[in-house]
Amino acid sequence: MRRRKKPAAGGSSRLFRGLRVLVTAGPTVEPIDPVRFISNRSSGRMGVAMAAAAARRGARVTLVHGPLQVPVPRSARITAVPVESAREMRDAVIRRAPGADLVIMCAAVADFTPASVARHKLKKAGRSSLRLELVRTPDILAELGALKRRPFLVGFAAETRDVARNAAGKLARKNCDMICANDVTEKGSGFAVRTNRVTIHRRGMEPVRLPLQTKAAAARRVLDEVARMWRG
Ligand code: CTP
Repeated sequence: MRRRKKPAAGGSSRLFRGLRVLVTAGPTVEPIDPVRFISNRSSGRMGVAMAAAAARRGARVTLVHGPLQVPVPRSARITAVPVESAREMRDAVIRRAPGADLVIMCAAVADFTPASVARHKLKKAGRSSLRLELVRTPDILAELGALKRRPFLVGFAAETRDVARNAAGKLARKNCDMICANDVTEKGSGFAVRTNRVTIHRRGMEPVRLPLQTKAAAARRVLDEVARMWRG
């Protein structure tokens, strides 16, 4: 069967050529003991689609990712940096951020991590319940937003209610340039599906509601909106 020719990258492709783009994808994994961890439902599809779309437009992409349910796209322009915990992701991103023109934080970073990691497997004998103490992880996007000379920052917000209000709050609180929000309770916009309906929030501008489309198509639209902001 002949493969269909892929659509052209679009009008903004020249803007991305040679640009250094840092993308994060997937969940983080917070260890409890040597055999257990806390994580979330992120598959990494949206982040991987963002990395692929940027690479296709000629950007040099670093993809910092937690455990993914999809393969890292094979491209000479994509360098993958696998990490596990929120702390490891933070260190990998902060180290590379000064060399980046654009950072796209797609990863579902854990907000809390166990206060301590048990050296040995926790045993159930003698216990009828188990209490885990969790502490806050670093907010990577907020840390990037606080940098004096910061790259252009795109964040994602997976919400279950008050999507617009939460997205606007994150845009301001994390001092980023764009928040791509989606309602994960909406059909076709949740975790581990191939589609997404994203609304793009920017300061002082009306939100742009994109249609339900594949994550690859949504990624291209997000890059188009980034390019539009740069041109504007
Ligand atoms: N993010 C981050 N570091 C964290 C948590 C989130 O960099 N510790 C980034 C995500 O990658 C995303 C954006 O911040 O781009 C919003 O993440 P989200 O989980 O929706 O928001 P939170 O700030 O964690 O707030 P809440 O979970 O209370 O909605």
